[in-house]
Amino acid sequence: MNKYQLLTVVGFLAISLTFHSCKKDEDPAPEDFIANNDTFKDFSSWTLGGEFQGADPSLGGAHGGNDSTVTRSVYFKNNVVPISGLYPQGAVIVKYSTNTAGNLNEYTAMVKRGNNFNPTGNDWEYFMLAGDGQIATDSDGNEMRGSNLMNGMCIGCHTKASTSDYIFTQR
Ligand code: HEC
Repeated sequence: MNKYQLLTVVGFLAISLTFHSCKKDEDPAPEDFIANNDTFKDFSSWTLGGEFQGADPSLGGAHGGNDSTVTRSVYFKNNVVPISGLYPQGAVIVKYSTNTAGNLNEYTAMVKRGNNFNPTGNDWEYFMLAGDGQIATDSDGNEMRGSNLMNGMCIGCHTKASTSDYIFTQR
């Protein structure tokens, strides 16, 4: 084999290796991070990233914001933090609002579902939870979740925090 034949063989090997590795890169296909009931288990033991006391007129009735005795606690799973301003796919944040009388107990959550789930809302999915961390169900038995939960009420207000990836609580 002369120098040129050798170069041809090496070149061919390099090209086929490139094609091979391209194929590998496409597999597995990207997937959404789809939360289930286990996702929110034991949320009260996660990192408490923010605690807010008392009424907040900017909230209206949301998160018990019209109750002067309310405490709103925000928990971050696996101590997740934003990377260059954006939370990673699979980020899970739970917020619990309660009051001194104990007759307010509201559990909400946001999960970074990713994979272009909702590109105009940075791919967050919004949730209502039951007290035990299970995903709440409506009167028709459907899970209370989605990018547009409560006819867009959640994302409508969280859009005010769009410059911090739709998350108000700064850590
Ligand atoms: C009127 C505005 C408003 C609406 C509506 C609203 N939120 Fe929030 N949310 C806030 C604010 C402000 C905070 C920051 C914590 C605080 O001040 O209590 C917050 C915090 C949160 C957090 C903790 C992460 C963060 O951004 O700090 C989650 C999770 C959350 N909200 C979920 C929801 C869900 C789910 C809904 C709909 C069912 C919803 N929110 C509706 C204003 C709103």
